[in-house]
Amino acid sequence: MGTVLVIGGSGTIGSAVVQELGKRHRVITAGRASGDHRVAIEDIASVQALFEEAGRVDHVVVAAGALHVGPLAAMTHEQFRIGLDSKLMGQVNVALVAQHALNDGGSVTLTSGVDAHNPLRGCANTVAVNNCIEGFARGAAVELQRGLRINVVNPSLLEESAEKFEPLFYGFEPVAASRVARAYSRCVEGAESGKTFRAW
Ligand SMILES: NC(=O)c1ccc[n+]([C@@H]2O[C@H](COP(=O)([O-])OP(=O)(O)OC[C@H]3O[C@@H](n4cnc5c(N)ncnc54)[C@H](OP(=O)(O)O)[C@@H]3O)[C@@H](O)[C@H]2O)c1
Repeated sequence: MGTVLVIGGSGTIGSAVVQELGKRHRVITAGRASGDHRVAIEDIASVQALFEEAGRVDHVVVAAGALHVGPLAAMTHEQFRIGLDSKLMGQVNVALVAQHALNDGGSVTLTSGVDAHNPLRGCANTVAVNNCIEGFARGAAVELQRGLRINVVNPSLLEESAEKFEPLFYGFEPVAASRVARAYSRCVEGAESGKTFRAW
C-alpha cells in the first residue's frame, strides 16, 4: 500500500487507473479543473506546486496531455508545438519534478499511444510525440536514483473513446479501459523500468 498521484484521474484512462489502483493504494488525483489538486502539466511551476501540496507520494501516473491531429500539408509550426508543449513536455515536467519529490522505491508512469508504432493519417504530431515519450523513459530509467522506476503505457484506442476517435482508427481493435488500467498497474506495482507496456 502506497500513495499514488494520478494526474488526469478524472479522464477516460485516468478514472480506470484510479479504480484499479484504488483497490490496493491510497489514490489522489489532479487536473486543470478536476480532482483533488489543480495542475497544468505544461507549466513546470504548477507541477512543482502540485508535489508540494500533495505531500509524500510514492508513485505518479500521468494520463493527460494534448496532441494535434490534422493533415501534414496544412500543419503549422504552432499546431506541431501543441503536442510538444502539452503531451511531451507536460509529462517530462512531471518526471523531472517527481524524481526529487517521490519516496524512495517509487515510480513514474507516463502515457503514449498505439500510433507511435502504427502511423495513421493526420498523426505526424502524435507519432512524433508518443515516440519521444517512450524514448525519454528509456533514457531516464538508467539514471534515476533511490530505486525509482519510470515506464510508459502505450494504449490502443479505448472502447470508451471509440465513438469520438474511431474514424482515425478504422481496423484497430478497441481495448477496454479496465484492461488498459492493468498495464498501469504493472508499471506502478511491478519491478521493471524503462519499459513501454502495450495495451493493444
Ligand atoms: N482515450 C484513448 O483512446 C487513448 C488512447 C491512447 C492514448 N491516449 C492518451 O491518454 C491520455 C489521456 O487520454 P484520455 O482519453 O483519458 O483523456 P480525457 O478523457 O480527455 O482525460 C484527460 C484528463 O487529463 C486532465 N488534463 C487534461 N489536460 C491537462 C493538463 N494540461 N494538465 C493537467 N491535467 C490535464 C483532465 O482533467 P481537466 O480537464 O480537469 O484538466 C482529465 O482528467 C492522452 O494523452 C491521450 O493521448 C488516449
